[in-house]
Amino acid sequence: MNDSHVIVSLDFSDPGHALKLIGKMDPAHCRLKIGKELFTRAGPVFVNQVIEKGYSVFLDLKFHDIPTTVAKACSAAADMGVWMLNLHASGGLRMMTMAREAIDKHLHKPLLIAVTVLTSMNERDLKQIGVVKHVSEQVKDLAMLANKSGLDGVVCSAREVAMLRKEFGDGFCLVTPGIRLQGSEHHDQQRVMTPAEAIRAGSDYLVIGRPVTQAADPLKALMAIEKEIARVKREA
Ligand code: C5P
Repeated sequence: MNDSHVIVSLDFSDPGHALKLIGKMDPAHCRLKIGKELFTRAGPVFVNQVIEKGYSVFLDLKFHDIPTTVAKACSAAADMGVWMLNLHASGGLRMMTMAREAIDKHLHKPLLIAVTVLTSMNERDLKQIGVVKHVSEQVKDLAMLANKSGLDGVVCSAREVAMLRKEFGDGFCLVTPGIRLQGSEHHDQQRVMTPAEAIRAGSDYLVIGRPVTQAADPLKALMAIEKEIARVKREA
């Protein structure tokens, strides 16, 4: 049974390159995230291929549409056998509630997670679309709406995880990108946390891309991250 807290982000445009990396890893030590680019290129056939290799898949398509359409898209994702999927909380309570109801009809229920405010957006961007609140306030309000809609949790930046854990308690799933090992390259990430810091702050799952996908030995990189997480869990 896979109980890994690490979700490796498959940020590849070529499914062949993604499969090559997957061949170097082990489903006992990570889960995989498939996003818009790879899914648009390789589709459900690729998702099935990955699931058949034994991996849990987070389908990161961030659905946002009218409630019926999102509910049907969530059903389609559940039929594919994914482990986790997400939607935009800004789609509103009705959209999220209908998505929840659609997922609940399935025997195999993937975790249903909301995106609150994209971390690429700052206060000015929010103002331009009519949101005058502070970013952190908007994140909290949308997370509350996701919680009220019965969603399983939210994707949140490392800087928000402690606040959201405090607000929503242990049952709410927090998924955190922007993770870097101590002393390693940050790439284009502005605010990063180490795996240990993110887990201590209350994150359940860490989304990690380049520190694993660009490592000379991806499995070795995964094991180092796993070891760090296990140490924090032992201390808790
Ligand atoms: O390579 P790196 O570890 O930076 O990859 C992080 C992954 O998480 C990428 O797929 C990126 O798009 C995603 N992500 C993120 N920040 C967010 C939401 C998603 O880095 N706020």
